Amino acid sequence: MNTPTLLSPLELSGGRTLKNRIVMPPLVIWKADESAEVNDAHVNHYRDTAPGCGLVVLEATTVSPEGRLASTQLGIFEDRQIPGLRQLAGTIRNAGALPGIQLHHAGGRTDTVKTWGAVPLAPSPVPEKPEIRELADDDIRRIIADFAAAAERAVEAGFELLEIHGAHGYLGSQFLSPRTNRRTDRWGGSLENRRRFLMEVTRAVCEAAGDRALVSCRLGIAEGPPRGGGSKGDPEPGLTVEEGVETARALVAAGLHVIHVSHAGSIPTPIEPPPTDPTSTDPVQSFIPDPVLQLSRPVKAAVSVPVIGVSGIVTATDAEQALAAGYGDLIAVGRGMLADPGWARKVTGGNGEEIERCVQCRPRCFHFTDPDKCPARKRLGIGPPQVF
Ligand SMILES: Cc1cc2nc3c(=O)[nH]c(=O)nc-3n(C[C@H](O)[C@H](O)[C@H](O)COP(=O)(O)O)c2cc1C
Repeated sequence: MNTPTLLSPLELSGGRTLKNRIVMPPLVIWKADESAEVNDAHVNHYRDTAPGCGLVVLEATTVSPEGRLASTQLGIFEDRQIPGLRQLAGTIRNAGALPGIQLHHAGGRTDTVKTWGAVPLAPSPVPEKPEIRELADDDIRRIIADFAAAAERAVEAGFELLEIHGAHGYLGSQFLSPRTNRRTDRWGGSLENRRRFLMEVTRAVCEAAGDRALVSCRLGIAEGPPRGGGSKGDPEPGLTVEEGVETARALVAAGLHVIHVSHAGSIPTPIEPPPTDPTSTDPVQSFIPDPVLQLSRPVKAAVSVPVIGVSGIVTATDAEQALAAGYGDLIAVGRGMLADPGWARKVTGGNGEEIERCVQCRPRCFHFTDPDKCPARKRLGIGPPQVF
């Protein structure tokens, strides 16, 4: 299939142009050690995967030591982490893509083993994890300052797009969701209060970046039933699509240049009816977006900045159809690029090289736990990114 839109450039603000609409989204590869510094495994991974992409957003990189989601996560909380990150930004730029980085804090979705001993912090107590401390006002201020300091380091390292992680049940989502934010102060309660943290982080990161980098937020627009099912007969209301879209609008007004749409911690119920005519050649009639990708259409209708849509895209044809059907201005391909690191290079290469398709393993992608078992990588005869 022809993919004219996917391969067309997109102008972003600040005179930056992406050469095409293909995004490598943040994908943690669990290769750092206690230092949280970059090593050869990271460099090799981005060197292999970035060619062909218009934009690469480096994996979730923690802005604070207690915000690590895993003991092997990259960090951007100390200056000594800058040189390695500079090498990665250079690797991505040399591959022809705009280098972006995701700034992350896990909030209460971690533990003291993963944080190498630092006490995890969350908007409200987590009954099943007594070691997690509720954030005091000063902690919140300090974490906002950590995001700003991380933004400064990221710019110094050469990244040109700074993506705030506001999705997937991590700290930004924890503040937004009434399920995990039970505060009664100015950081909880009304939507305006629950989104205050992300608003302040956005303002702080935009101010730190100035015109040296663009700022994006990966925003969890809505959440589905609680992970693990929740208590029967007592379905706690989660973040709704209306609240998510309104938050997207407010964050854009606060200075964002790009919105990267995702879920807020669990897969939401589909918001669109099935396609009217699955046999039609019109993508709006026939394309079947997954429930997460569906969330990007109402956001795109509500904001004026470019929207990145993600989830469930396996082939270039899927990506072209998603663009044509209005699910984003840019399309990110996550597991597809882990399955075949040559995904973007092959799609843009023009010589018909077949991609090794991600088969969307259930219940979970092996790249979370055991990348050696990824069926596509096995067929390609490559293992996980290695330290050479
Ligand atoms: C192994 C793995 C690591 C991921 N790491 C991140 C991450 O660092 N930050 C993030 O926002 N999302 C992360 N994600 C989510 C992906 O970026 C993407 O949104 C998700 O996989 C859905 O897109 P896909 O269907 O194209 O894979 C990860 C997903 C996988 C499978």
